[in-house]
Amino acid sequence: MRRHQQPARWLAGAVAAFGLGMAIGAQAVEDVSGRVHDGGGAPIAGAMVTIQRGEPAHGVTVFTGDDGRFRMPPLETEGPAIIRARRIGWRDLRRTDVSLASGQWLDLVLERETDPGAVAAQLPANHWYQLVLERIEDPVQREELKRQCTYCHQQGNLATRRLRDPEEWQKVLALMGRMGGLVSRDLRERIPEVFNAAYAPEHAVAALTADLGKPGFAPPPPAEVRAAIIEEWDLGGRASMQHDMLVHPDGRIYSVDMSQDRLYRLDPSSPDGGREDWEIPGGDLPIGGVFARMGPPDVPTSNARVGPHSLQVAPDGAIWMTLALGNQLARFDPGTEQFSFHELGQGYYPHTLRFDARGRIWYTIAASNHLGMFDPMTGDARELRLPSSTLGQAVAMRMMPFFLWLGRHVDLRAAAAEADGFNAPIPYGVDIAPDGAVWFSQLNEHRIGRVDPDTFSIEMIDTPFTAPRRMRFDGKGRLWIPGFSSGLIASFDPETREFQTYELPIEPLGSETPYALHVDRRRGEVWICGTNSDTLIRFEPDGERFTVYPLPTRVTYTREIDFDAEGRVWTSNSNAPAWQIEGGMPRLLRLDPRRGDAEVAATR
Ligand code: HEC
Repeated sequence: MRRHQQPARWLAGAVAAFGLGMAIGAQAVEDVSGRVHDGGGAPIAGAMVTIQRGEPAHGVTVFTGDDGRFRMPPLETEGPAIIRARRIGWRDLRRTDVSLASGQWLDLVLERETDPGAVAAQLPANHWYQLVLERIEDPVQREELKRQCTYCHQQGNLATRRLRDPEEWQKVLALMGRMGGLVSRDLRERIPEVFNAAYAPEHAVAALTADLGKPGFAPPPPAEVRAAIIEEWDLGGRASMQHDMLVHPDGRIYSVDMSQDRLYRLDPSSPDGGREDWEIPGGDLPIGGVFARMGPPDVPTSNARVGPHSLQVAPDGAIWMTLALGNQLARFDPGTEQFSFHELGQGYYPHTLRFDARGRIWYTIAASNHLGMFDPMTGDARELRLPSSTLGQAVAMRMMPFFLWLGRHVDLRAAAAEADGFNAPIPYGVDIAPDGAVWFSQLNEHRIGRVDPDTFSIEMIDTPFTAPRRMRFDGKGRLWIPGFSSGLIASFDPETREFQTYELPIEPLGSETPYALHVDRRRGEVWICGTNSDTLIRFEPDGERFTVYPLPTRVTYTREIDFDAEGRVWTSNSNAPAWQIEGGMPRLLRLDPRRGDAEVAATR
């Protein structure tokens, strides 16, 4: 079921390019540079300049220096370009259908944005969401709202901050609840009033732009950040959800589309991205997989029978993935392009996976509170039931097969959405310590656990912060954990059992919901998803120093990070639904934080 993503408008693009006098099959366009200024000669520092070409699109973004100048890396994707320059406080500049030539100079003039409402609209979603959070005095409710309403999409983005009358809010909340965004009754009753009050323009715009015109308002990023190059490749379509991605040792990037049951591959060394994709066979499973329920699907665009969620590379170079809805593990062989499957014995919703040094797969099983182990060599498999913290949870977890059976005959979703919330423990992140021990987090229980890799005994440890999500070990055996609803990261020392926490420096403080982090072991750096603020964040443990990299697309919701051999940072934009993303398309992203210093100097 292989499909090369032939650019749909290739022919039209080629004809257009020809019409503009460009040679077909041209070499990369080199040395495109220019300056962003205000028309009166004053440079605009820290503006993002994006050049987008190709179909599906490939965008390259650089920042302007103190003198407003920028220089693009060689642009390999062909076709007419869209050029955009943006900086908060200035009106977006956008030119379409530009034909670019090597050595071209671009003179870009930005106009001041004088309308405070328009400036407020340029701010990342977390600024808006903070206005909601400030209105919820009870810290328990605030935590619940952050944890339960920001795990599919950002809150505070354009689509979610629209004012709605109470009935419309009830409809939205019922839909969110049926999909899993359950909140307790008291909170649910307050949401319409709180969201409408927080987002009402007469209040929000004034609060968000109080400092407009002062130097501290949306300052340009520091010079170090402005040296970065950020690339974005469109992948899939408006109904896609690119959940997790990885960098294969061969340099290609794989990504799974959870709502369309597809595996994607991008070849960044190919000028057009060399995108390919394969349908993951769903066998006889209905839409919804083992969770198929009575009634129409909640999201009509979902075609998921197997729902691929996460993926990892096996020691033999094959790709293994969790099929959350199909309740399977799948292996994709890049040589034969064939899939093979392992069915779970017990448990529901295989989630995040890691290989241990013996080639065994360890994976969290989120809905039923298990941790799975599968050895592809021997076929040895087990699913360990993890501790629940209440009797109600323990009973509910054991009743899951019954509820799933019942749900195929009666529509239980509305009842679930109207109930008083329900906290399942939700085993989430998992990683293998250098000593072979398996560590995982239980998101909703605010604790982590350790499984002995030989005896399978389980030990649980409370975290001193809420919602530990996707975690990773560094080369020294320290575990790094993002606190999703607590806006921080923590390190944990398995020897001393001590946690150390570091608050993320995202303004306004406390508004960030970091979904995942990963450790670049060669450089000893921790990279963190700035999931609600359109950022990637670097933390250097030695100097305890954070660096925040703004990303070019509004509504960039990130869930996983990986690194390539050159130390560049990869992630995907997987806001679900994709149509909330600016431009409406999910993407793969590559951030190169270290463009050579010489090259940066040349732009000054
Ligand atoms: C399980 C995933 C998920 C969770 C959790 C979730 N949402 Fe959504 N949300 C969606 C999807 C998918 C859509 C798009 C639905 C559509 O357009 O049909 C959406 C759309 C929205 C919209 C826009 C609706 C519109 O009319 O365009 C709002 C507002 C919203 N969500 C608020 C919330 C709130 C508040 C919560 C927490 C109670 C929440 N979401 C939790 C998946 C989720």
